[in-house]
Amino acid sequence: MKRYHVTTFGCQMNEHDSERMKGMLESLGYQAAAEQQEADVILFNTCSIRETADSRFVAHLGHAKRVKRERPETIIGVGGCWAQSLKDEVFAQFPFVDVAFGPGQVHKLAEFLTSDSLTAQGFFEFEGFAGDLPDKRTRDHQGWVQISVGCNCNCSYCIVPQTRGREASRPFDGVVAECERLASEGVREVTLLGQNVNAYGRDLRPAKRTFAELLHAVDAVDGIERVRYTSPHPKDMKEDVILAHATLPSVCEHIHLPLQSGSSRILKAMKRTYNQERYLDRVALIREHVPDCALTTDIIVGFPGETEEDFQMTLDVCEQVGYDSAFTFVFSPRRGTEAALITEGLVPHPVKVERMERLVEVVQRRAHERAQRFVGRTMEVLVEGTSRTDPSRLRGRSRHNKTVNFTGFGQPGELVMVEIERATSQTLAGEESLLARAGVR
Ligand code: 5AD
Ligand code: SF4
Repeated sequence: MKRYHVTTFGCQMNEHDSERMKGMLESLGYQAAAEQQEADVILFNTCSIRETADSRFVAHLGHAKRVKRERPETIIGVGGCWAQSLKDEVFAQFPFVDVAFGPGQVHKLAEFLTSDSLTAQGFFEFEGFAGDLPDKRTRDHQGWVQISVGCNCNCSYCIVPQTRGREASRPFDGVVAECERLASEGVREVTLLGQNVNAYGRDLRPAKRTFAELLHAVDAVDGIERVRYTSPHPKDMKEDVILAHATLPSVCEHIHLPLQSGSSRILKAMKRTYNQERYLDRVALIREHVPDCALTTDIIVGFPGETEEDFQMTLDVCEQVGYDSAFTFVFSPRRGTEAALITEGLVPHPVKVERMERLVEVVQRRAHERAQRFVGRTMEVLVEGTSRTDPSRLRGRSRHNKTVNFTGFGQPGELVMVEIERATSQTLAGEESLLARAGVR
């Protein structure tokens, strides 16, 4: 029995691609190995969120190199965004790598493993969706469904259009069929994935489809009780999508709406194609239709040219919106992007750090305040397992995407009602409602 080991870096899209890699390897008869040194195929699914390969990745790769020295027949593969951004240079930098492939090129890995090629190969052209490959889900009741690849935006800081290419939507019926298959296997929650999910469907022929139509179709799938998606772009956040949250029972009360900056001047330099006013207008529309909706965001601090005044506008938007949580990033130039070429107005590192600290303070304070609205409510929680900090308690997720730690009887994959007693900026704590379990709600 041959064995594989996969290490994943980066975003959910990469996690999902790794599940496909594992599923594909298992369908070829491979089994998971707990450690790299026990594996016949050692894979890395990489991210280019940093300009240079991060030290964790380099350390892992060094280890794989030692394994290969001891057992030369071991196959070492590097996939994902970082591999894509370097292409064949991967082999020049790391001669012990046998196969390199871009994001989503999982089927190429299969081709390589099943051929009797002895020479190193790189695969970087997009050819099709991995959606039809089997996957190996890390959680039995949650599934990721890729609905598009690539991105047609031109954000000046972002490497994604280079690594993941032009936007292509997956056929509508294929997405719905995959959700039906997942439901038949016991999945209750799906997350629709794409670099810009709400631009979905415009490129489909003969007939265009919309993202809102897709939400309706997935909501109608029997057995799927929660639908999430990531990431949308504020410019494509149309009223029909917001209304889907208000009217479709399975579409969760959570929207991730990347802000990036609160300053219209910086947004323009970032080529985000919306300004502060339009962004806040989207937020107002969400609050109007789905008053209780959780809002989360991504923010970049220290973009070239960002003044104290610009940064203050980011803080103002955070105060005003009151995000339920936010991913905050310090700007870092990525090879080949427009922003990496800017030489004027660069923000010194200590200033970036100081702004980041102030931003995190506002984000956390507002998240903490916002979370108090849940205290005293009885909320639906999808049980994931035991609590990470206290094994006598359970852990799950609310529809608002909050982690909930609680005492109760639920099994993984079960939807239970939990009475919320306490809330921090990050998590909720409570007790399963026994009345609800007994059928009294
Ligand atoms: N520097 C810092 N943050 C970045 N992001 C994307 N590119 C960069 C960059 N060059 C952040 C954005 C995006 C998130 C996934 O990563 O906030 O939404
Ligand atoms: Fe994901 Fe972007 Fe990292 Fe690629 S570069 S893995 S798309 S976060």
